[in-house]
Amino acid sequence: MGVTIGEVLRRSTDHLVRKGVEQPRVDAERLLSQALGMERVELYMHLDRPLTPSELEDARALLARRAAGEPLQYVLGEWGFRRLTLRVDARALIPRPETETLVERCLALLDGAKAPRVLDVGAGSGAVALALADEHPGARVTAIDVSEEALSLARENAKRTGLTVELACHDLFAGLPGDGWDLVVSNPPYVRDDELASLAPEVVDWEPGLALVDRGHTEALVRGAAQALRPGGALAVEAHEDGAFGVAALLDREGYVAVRTTKDLAGRDRVVEGRTPA
Ligand SMILES: C[S@@+](CC[C@H](N)C(=O)[O-])C[C@H]1O[C@@H](n2cnc3c(N)ncnc32)[C@H](O)[C@@H]1O
Repeated sequence: MGVTIGEVLRRSTDHLVRKGVEQPRVDAERLLSQALGMERVELYMHLDRPLTPSELEDARALLARRAAGEPLQYVLGEWGFRRLTLRVDARALIPRPETETLVERCLALLDGAKAPRVLDVGAGSGAVALALADEHPGARVTAIDVSEEALSLARENAKRTGLTVELACHDLFAGLPGDGWDLVVSNPPYVRDDELASLAPEVVDWEPGLALVDRGHTEALVRGAAQALRPGGALAVEAHEDGAFGVAALLDREGYVAVRTTKDLAGRDRVVEGRTPA
């Protein structure tokens, strides 16, 4: 008789513990669910069910990738963001929970606008742009990225979700495209060079450096948006967990009004917003 679900879960968890994975049991459950096409709860309803040889092979292949340090999200190939399930892989950053707070603030800033024009700077997987198109159906959303790879993933996610966003390759350091935007939103790269060594290898070794490392993106964004927004238009920016105060000060200096900061779900100042004078 083949090895059972319960036994595979136990052995996989032990293996991930030895590899120093942070949440070994949860990861083992998610990987096995994926290999078997089952919900996690179903695993516990069938702990004594033996795996077929091909199921065992699939489970081993996923486990080996995770044990080698690849992020769980990339191994699974999809991840939830707001109401969407997006394809995720090494072409773009894994959408983070704190970025859901950024989307939340954008929706508040757009409240009551029938067909606002929105520009997302640094599309990545398309998470922010697609969530806004999904949750504010009248919004006309454009997203730019300098990475063609990220844009190809964002295109796949637009197709997968059936949502319409315009995607374009554009370098933020050349200024922002278009003008008269009602909202400019961005989760820019904000990891400092001196922090890179202290980040988890899972992040540094697997996620695109272009999506992580700050090269003056936030300053360029704040200045570019001041030109590209309509009078009274809004800017919403995600900031480093220690950086929101500085970003808010930058918005003040650049002449934005109604500048405010919102905490993420972990209680860290995270999202900074402001408006151009009306
Ligand atoms: C932190 S990721 C955010 C991705 C996505 N919006 C999210 O929140 O999951 C930053 C994105 O900015 C893009 N980027 C980096 N430099 C850029 C530049 N100079 N111009 C435009 N996009 C840039 C990266 O390729 C990456 O996709």
